[in-house]
Amino acid sequence: MAENVLYYGDNLDILRRYIKDETIDLIYLDPPFKSNQEYNVLFEERNGSRSKSQIKAFKDTWRWDQGSAEAYEEVVEKGPDKVSKVMRALRTFLGENDMMAYLSMMAPRLVELERVLKPSGSIYLHCDQTASAHLRLLMDAVFGPNNFHNEIVWHYRRWTGEAKRFQRMHDTILFYAKNRDEVYFKPLYTPYTKKSAKRKQHYHTRIKGDDVYVTSVDPRGVRENDVWDISVINPAAKERLGYPTQKPEALLERIIEASSNEGDVVLDPFCGCGTTIAVAQCLKRRWIGIDITCLATALIKHRLQHAFGRKIRKTYKVIGEPISLTDADTLAKENWHQFECWALGLVGARPAEKKKGADRGIDGRLYFHDEPDGKGKTKQIIISVKGGEKVTVSQLRDLRGVIDREDAEIGVLISMAKPTRDMRKEAASAGFYKSAWGKHPRLQLLTIEELLSGKGIDYPPSEQVNVTLKRAPKAKSGTTVTQAHLFHKERKQPAEN
Ligand SMILES: C[S@@+](CC[C@H](N)C(=O)[O-])C[C@H]1O[C@@H](n2cnc3c(N)ncnc32)[C@H](O)[C@@H]1O
Repeated sequence: MAENVLYYGDNLDILRRYIKDETIDLIYLDPPFKSNQEYNVLFEERNGSRSKSQIKAFKDTWRWDQGSAEAYEEVVEKGPDKVSKVMRALRTFLGENDMMAYLSMMAPRLVELERVLKPSGSIYLHCDQTASAHLRLLMDAVFGPNNFHNEIVWHYRRWTGEAKRFQRMHDTILFYAKNRDEVYFKPLYTPYTKKSAKRKQHYHTRIKGDDVYVTSVDPRGVRENDVWDISVINPAAKERLGYPTQKPEALLERIIEASSNEGDVVLDPFCGCGTTIAVAQCLKRRWIGIDITCLATALIKHRLQHAFGRKIRKTYKVIGEPISLTDADTLAKENWHQFECWALGLVGARPAEKKKGADRGIDGRLYFHDEPDGKGKTKQIIISVKGGEKVTVSQLRDLRGVIDREDAEIGVLISMAKPTRDMRKEAASAGFYKSAWGKHPRLQLLTIEELLSGKGIDYPPSEQVNVTLKRAPKAKSGTTVTQAHLFHKERKQPAEN
């Protein structure tokens, strides 16, 4: 497996279709936790403040329904014996409720993850108190209790509400080996602080009764334990991209450093905005990411480009997103929202909020700064996406009305169908937006076919001016991403145990 791959799709399907047995060195998964929430992406407003408009990213609400009953039956009937037993016991205990629906979704995926993991591989399942106890049972059934290595506590500080209980300030990460006798693991160390290293210089002997022991401090520092103090991504953090549930890169660095080597394959089957992928790329691992939303895959592509430069696009494949008109048509028919996100992602735009009364006639927006110093007024392009076999001039006139109403610089109609002659005339009559780079038609028509062939919106060079999505900070390949190479840097001070 030479290439890195980003898959759009349901991970169960992708795992079964594409990922061969025993090919993965490390799996990190951060599935929805059954938090009964709908997660929205908060975009930044034009003035840098938080936007009121929120785009639904994914939902984390589970109901026992026909789908869960089928998933449950499949795993009970066809899954490994122990998994089947645990699932039956859980159903007897829990009944047919939301938790059981969640576990029925997780069980077959964990079975597939066990299949694809190499004998030397490890899996880290990120969860919280909502389902950690149930998931632990399931993980024991899938991987075997002997292969359980750690329950890692990720401790952080955050604002919490008043409640009659202690404040909840940690997530749990369940770490299992595929096979504890063969697993690869590299201990990590936190270097001593200057103060403690200095203090330790004076304590290199230990006296017990009449015996004097000469001890030495491990030059690598203090061996990492299973409670990790890592800050959550604060609102002002550079790495914050606005994706809900985005995890800190420092957390992934630890996992990837400890349980893989350069060149190994790291898989994240619920990859969100691509934290695992970005860190794996930095640390010279190969990677596979899977997510069920085109919003996530679009953000990941964007993140990689900003962190590693344009050339990175040549080093990974995207599978599952449309590559032909027929694919696009199928996606449009199966899931219009994902189709829109995909099409908007191709032009570097973001979906618009679709609540009643909000932004009528607008499917997506693209913001840009084309003043010489990158400052000044933020300009915008408004996008309307149309499916179906026909597009009409009245749809284009509506868009023209919207760009006037919104005082936007450019309007773009993206359509499956080819525009009519009348539409072309209408577009030509709308005039131009003038920038330092030249003239750009104010009303533009783009077909999905043109987008697939690489055509984009005519506006000043996107890389220099597009400010629609938050840019990931530039990363250096081979070095860690954030603050946290602390724990694996060698230190020169003398040390003792
Ligand atoms: C908790 S978020 C992961 C966040 C991620 N760790 C990060 O740092 O950005 C869970 C992700 O799983 C995705 N997801 C949910 N169900 C999925 C499925 N069946 N297959 C693939 N992805 C799925 C959601 O779209 C969401 O992006």
